Amino acid sequence: MQKKIKLGVLGSGSGSNMQAIMDAIDAGSLNAEIVLVLSDFPEVYILERARQAGLRAEVIDCEGYKTKFPESSQRQIASKLKEAGVDIVCLAGFMRLVKLPMLDVFPDRILNIHPSLLPAYPGLMAWKQAVDDRAEESGCTVHHVDAGMDTGPIIMQSRVPVFPEDDAASLHARIQIAEHSLYPRAIAHLAVELKLQE
Ligand code: GRF
Repeated sequence: MQKKIKLGVLGSGSGSNMQAIMDAIDAGSLNAEIVLVLSDFPEVYILERARQAGLRAEVIDCEGYKTKFPESSQRQIASKLKEAGVDIVCLAGFMRLVKLPMLDVFPDRILNIHPSLLPAYPGLMAWKQAVDDRAEESGCTVHHVDAGMDTGPIIMQSRVPVFPEDDAASLHARIQIAEHSLYPRAIAHLAVELKLQE
């Protein structure tokens, strides 16, 4: 029996990507367990989903900052994730920039999912950027997190078409379907690369 990969998940929103990871684990296509879920806001659905699934779920104290991710908060959660034995940290709709000391504690082991084919459309509302730009194609990217915004090395991408009648919401919905299948596959791929699993 292979060792399960221990995942930590950080999110700020609905947590549909975390749900997709949980579903892949339940379906047996990802040999992992989510050991800790953290959010920077107390009232978000990702925490509710986690608790309903019986997962450990906690709020990150960001010292009252709305968007900044203070170094002391990062240090605190890095130790929590370490203590929980986390192998890979998955950002799933987490809206703050992860920098040092998180990157030092989990080198090459922090992943993000972004709703575009990076390097196209980094930053906020990438699906809207694609529609406004009249792009013919978009998609999603799972990448390593580095100190930039959506700039780290790409692990896997998935493409979706953009139709002339699309608006931001319809494209986002199509991209999210692709995200839900991509993220668990990218985690499994990285686990093999890092030799967490053969
Ligand atoms: C996803 O579209 C992801 O690409 C972006 O934020 C969104 C999070 O959605 N980074 P959810 O919370 O996983 O539903």
